Amino acid sequence: MDVALDVAPYETWRRMRDEAPVYHNERLGFYALSRYDDVATALRDTATYSSAHGNVLEFLSEQEMQSGMMILTDPPAHTRLRSQVARVFTVRRMSALEDDIATICDDLLARWTPGEDFDLVQDFGAIVPSMVMTRLLGVPEEDREAVRKIIDTMFHVLPDVGMFNDIAGGAMAELDRYLGTLLARRAADPGDDLLSGLVQSELSRRECVEFAMLLATAGTETVGRLLGWATVLLDQHPDQRAALAADPSLVPAAVEELLRFEGPSPVQGRWTKADVTLHGVTIPAGSKVLLLTSSAGRDERKYADADRFDVRRTIDHHVSFGYGVHFCLGAALARLESRVALTKMLAHHPAWVVDHERSVRAHTSTVRGWEHVVVH
Ligand code: HEM
Repeated sequence: MDVALDVAPYETWRRMRDEAPVYHNERLGFYALSRYDDVATALRDTATYSSAHGNVLEFLSEQEMQSGMMILTDPPAHTRLRSQVARVFTVRRMSALEDDIATICDDLLARWTPGEDFDLVQDFGAIVPSMVMTRLLGVPEEDREAVRKIIDTMFHVLPDVGMFNDIAGGAMAELDRYLGTLLARRAADPGDDLLSGLVQSELSRRECVEFAMLLATAGTETVGRLLGWATVLLDQHPDQRAALAADPSLVPAAVEELLRFEGPSPVQGRWTKADVTLHGVTIPAGSKVLLLTSSAGRDERKYADADRFDVRRTIDHHVSFGYGVHFCLGAALARLESRVALTKMLAHHPAWVVDHERSVRAHTSTVRGWEHVVVH
């Protein structure tokens, strides 16, 4: 929520890792873990670190969330939901989208004339994932742009209250209604889209809507932000960009480095179910804990020269997609979209120049990245 910190958290994260690996913020009443090992261990320990009380700081409370969204549940409820959706949300279904993704990218990039201004976030990066998502869900073509805008509005944040505001809440209710209606149509007249697959699973109608809502939120902003980071970072490292353009087989590793270096989902919230003592500090049961996955990506205890961006780096593991039972369900799709989109950007105009005067950061309490990146 603090704009200056959101823009450049790196030194603060370093101090936290070095000086306060179990950081306690008394004013806002939360703890934070920032080292790779601690974050990875906590992400896997769902008995101690619960997701059922929320995963965003401003929503975390004593009360359980009463949500059917699996990201807000713990085992065994989570196990049941995840196994049901995994049957529908298959790697095969994602891979089948590759040609569609390539066409979407080509069509959008055709509007970009090298040398002229183009917003690689608003007119490309933010659009590709929501177009893919609406296709995956089976949203009819005429509704896709409207649905994409509703999704964007759900991420609206206001000072002090963050995402807990009427504008974001209204958009969430609107998408919920829309998906409920579409799901009813698919139940009556199934197609081969994901919603049709979901209504035929053992999930209740409510659970299907909540899963589709989760996909629409988790699977759009994140990929859009990653592509924004790719645009800015590769402009800052033209030698690496040239290497990627010359050899697209390097792109998948570059995507992993982007995720490590500037993870679009930097903070995962949890609620402690038991006292836990770490580095001499006891976090009492019933505490809000933030797991700083993006700080973990910069932990020099895990990654040599962690603040150096290097697309040729070999990364054995990172936590930018989470870890353990909540590991990002859409990771394969996110990697596919990012690989195709980045390869297309590099093929279209591999020497873009970012106009920093006109590029603008986005500030939300969940995803971190760019709202506009204007290039020419
Ligand atoms: C670069 C893009 C992405 C990033 C950085 C990202 C990151 C994450 C992270 C960190 C988590 C774990 C949250 C937690 O532990 O509380 C997560 C979970 C999840 N993600 Fe992603 N994600 C991305 C793209 C996607 C896409 C494209 C989809 C869907 C199409 C998706 C769907 C989900 C779902 C459904 C979960 C919840 C899994 C569960 O609770 O079992 N994500 N993601």
